[in-house]
Amino acid sequence: MNIIYHSSTRIFHLYNDRISYIMMILKNGHMGQLYYGKQIRDQEDFSYFMETCQRPMTSCVYEEDSSFSLEHIRQEYPVFGTTDYRQPATEIVQENGSRISDFTYRSHCICEGKPDLCGLPATYTETKDEARTLCITLKDDVTGVQAELYYTIFAKGGILARSVRFTNNGSKPVHLTRAMSLCLDLPDRDYIWQQLSGCWARECHIHTQKLEPGIRSIGSMRGNSSHEHNPFLVLKRPSTDERQGEAIGLSLIYSGCFRIQAETDAHDTVRILAGIDPETFDWKLDCGETFQTPEAVLVHTDQGLNHLSQTFHKLYQKRLARGYWRDRPRPILNNNWEATYFNFTQDRLIEIAAKAKECGVELFVLDDGWFGARSSDTAGLGDWTPNKDRLPNGIKGLADRIEALGLKFGLWFEPEMTNKDSDFYRQHPDWILATPQRNISQGRHQYVLDFSIKEVVDAIYEQMAQILRNAKVSYIKWDMNRSISECYSKAWPSDRQGEIYHRYILGVYDLYDRLTAEFPHVLFESCSSGGGRFDPGMLYYAPQAWASDNSDAIERLKIQYGTSMCYPISSIGSHVSVSPNHQVFRDTPLHTRANVAYFGTFGYELDLNRLTETEIAEVKEQICFMKQYRSVLQYGTFYRLKSPFEENVTAWMSVSEDQKTALVGWYRVLNVVNDRFTRLRLQGLNPNYRYRNSRTGTCHFGDELMYAGLITSDETAGQIPHGVTPYTDFESRIYVLEVVES
Ligand code: DGJ
Repeated sequence: MNIIYHSSTRIFHLYNDRISYIMMILKNGHMGQLYYGKQIRDQEDFSYFMETCQRPMTSCVYEEDSSFSLEHIRQEYPVFGTTDYRQPATEIVQENGSRISDFTYRSHCICEGKPDLCGLPATYTETKDEARTLCITLKDDVTGVQAELYYTIFAKGGILARSVRFTNNGSKPVHLTRAMSLCLDLPDRDYIWQQLSGCWARECHIHTQKLEPGIRSIGSMRGNSSHEHNPFLVLKRPSTDERQGEAIGLSLIYSGCFRIQAETDAHDTVRILAGIDPETFDWKLDCGETFQTPEAVLVHTDQGLNHLSQTFHKLYQKRLARGYWRDRPRPILNNNWEATYFNFTQDRLIEIAAKAKECGVELFVLDDGWFGARSSDTAGLGDWTPNKDRLPNGIKGLADRIEALGLKFGLWFEPEMTNKDSDFYRQHPDWILATPQRNISQGRHQYVLDFSIKEVVDAIYEQMAQILRNAKVSYIKWDMNRSISECYSKAWPSDRQGEIYHRYILGVYDLYDRLTAEFPHVLFESCSSGGGRFDPGMLYYAPQAWASDNSDAIERLKIQYGTSMCYPISSIGSHVSVSPNHQVFRDTPLHTRANVAYFGTFGYELDLNRLTETEIAEVKEQICFMKQYRSVLQYGTFYRLKSPFEENVTAWMSVSEDQKTALVGWYRVLNVVNDRFTRLRLQGLNPNYRYRNSRTGTCHFGDELMYAGLITSDETAGQIPHGVTPYTDFESRIYVLEVVES
């Protein structure tokens, strides 16, 4: 990996063995974008990539040069108001009302490794040789505002991380009303835009669209990254698929309001912008103050979507997630939410936990309802002290009993919220986000605490830390069950109200920072009514996240398949729940529920005491299986093979790093009568290794399994089988492939 500056041509070339990113200082001092894609060999001059011509009806920067119109120049960090009529990367409102700025190159520096982004989650390096960072300093003379553009190129993988830091070195305050994390101007629009969208219980569905002239955007104005749109985008060439072809992935390491958009102009140039949502953002930058944008990560591949995802998985698993749990197999848990909802006693919990222990579960998690006056969702949030009616011996007493059973104990919190019916709210009615003289909307009977105020974060931290200091809590599920409305903080002046959405998220990060620092061995799982905040910002603190409140195995095929586009399998919270399912009321076989949940953190969301003897025997086998293979399932290389968005059959697989073990998940939604013979072409195996197929006992070389395929034909379809239970709808299989000789 290298970063080269060619002073004669004023060109920067960042490259590793996969990608090149090339830009130059333009003649007006702005930064121009020349090339982003597969690595090309370095040379002194690439300036001819900056094609200009005189076009009718355009405004030009120079009187004597009618070809230099910013509207037609690909740029690194453009502004609006001069000759570029596309959406800008930044906008600065000045004292006189002007919004024009002119950021020109001043200097640059290159350092080994990667600097931290103060107060914000970001990818990191462990040794200096893992990455190199270029910082280009731009300045706007009129305001004195400086913008430092950061580019980190990693040694391995086609990865480039970008962010921007503003400093007001002028003599007057300004307002940053737009501060995107990156702009990427691409020279053509021959891309398919692919986003992960949905809503509560239907997160991360894949949607695609051809890029057409105009703006295509996703984002959130809800205060959380949202169920509706994940802060992730893929641009793929029309011929690209999972196995081959060129694609760019863009992921924003941020948990609040965001926007990612593509603007296709009249000459087919595409401007990608990603960062904090400008609509909900207005940051007053006083003299001497700095503002750091979140980080955006770009991944480029020429080897298809699986390779793109694997690059993100590895980066986010190893260099975004941190701490004790980063590399550890995740405990198999039993969560009581769908087993009891709010209706439990200590004895009932112990009963559930005891059965879980008997089956081999490792961690028992007590969900919502253990604190304050919380017997329904109308009361209690904010009072993080145990409800003595339900838990006479407090959290410590319960945790001790769970530990005595030989299980670890985990606990649910929703730290960012309060109910009006709580002591916390009664004592601090001013600590919620609320606009004076306006109706304050509730969501699930709760209100959002004003985490832009340090005192509020301190108070919640103290309550949570108190519990964690006194009881043996090994895991926290951190929930967040409503979006922000009427966003206003009484603690901040009128000209800083546009900062509150972002300050709120900074408060959330601060609380996470403090808790993970004081309790480094606690495993955090983030949650926001399922996947309402399943984003890389959260993964920095909590290495796993509850992917969806929809625990139905068939629904989960789409949710987990979509989520895997960006996020590692070790981060995807997935549980076996009861049948009929509580969200879609569908009956699915127990083995299918487990076969889907294996490709995630794995656990149970039910009371195992309610299962039959036969089912319990099956659960015990499932848990043994998961224990045996979880390191491959969670940390192996993951391949999507068949898409639930396209076919009746979904398939995916994980391969161990040494390629000696592979687990293939095969799922068929509806049964098919008299079906054709089917084969599944596997990926990631060693062509020269011979694998034993656990279902058939037969052995096959990797090349055969990858190029001819694994036979998945259904031997019972179309006839009454002899001695075999006929398959039904929602059938699934796991094929374990293990090397017999290498
Ligand atoms: C929403 C979560 O997604 C559920 O798993 C559960 O924890 C409930 N909140 C509890 O209120």
